[in-house]
Amino acid sequence: MQMIKRFFSHSLSSEAGDQTAQNESPAKPLGTCVGDSKSCPEGGRLHAKIEGRYVSVLRIDGKLFCIDSICFHAGGPLGIGDIEDVNGHKCLVCPWHFYKIDIQTGDKYYQGLEFKDGKMLGGEWKSNGVRQRVHPVVEESGKIYVTLSTQPDAEAAATAAGLLGCGGPTAACSPSSRVESDGYAFDAQCGDRVLNSPPSANRAKVHSVGADGRKPSGQVLRGQYKS
Ligand code: FES
Repeated sequence: MQMIKRFFSHSLSSEAGDQTAQNESPAKPLGTCVGDSKSCPEGGRLHAKIEGRYVSVLRIDGKLFCIDSICFHAGGPLGIGDIEDVNGHKCLVCPWHFYKIDIQTGDKYYQGLEFKDGKMLGGEWKSNGVRQRVHPVVEESGKIYVTLSTQPDAEAAATAAGLLGCGGPTAACSPSSRVESDGYAFDAQCGDRVLNSPPSANRAKVHSVGADGRKPSGQVLRGQYKS
């Protein structure tokens, strides 16, 4: 699905024939429509290509999030990764090398190690910083809109969204900053793996790992999770 038309609140009003609204309040940036609300129910996902950039929208715990679909590390299909809760942070787990990326902030997490009682043990989860770009996403009149955080009005869009879903653009995901995922963001071969993924690739269930601040439990297996 590729939709590049960008919407403002007035464009919705005028389409509905409501000219009055245009005289009462300034236009509110909505962004690019990526689909109907009902096409992204709780636990659902939408993948879209906006101005050549591949992005994935997820609805988790009633909130919408939008993040670059292609993994910053080596171009993996991050957008179809499993979702894990790492100490309260909802993360996409890249199917290729299992990096955990925070869907709200774009942080990449890793688990530190501790040497204790002569043994090397899993320690606290820490962030390597923002590596994946996130984007403001808003829902209005039964449709979902994304504003790329590279666009000049991204901050206004985030405000208009009431910081719904992703809190972006964060300082690390502003139009002037470079985020590592920018490198693969437009790669058609990588992006099409996500965009053309079958519904079965988009798992809804959230798996909890590291909830104790330590290593994932023995129940967590690669590609085969149990709760
Ligand atoms: S491509 Fe290596 S973790 Fe995503």
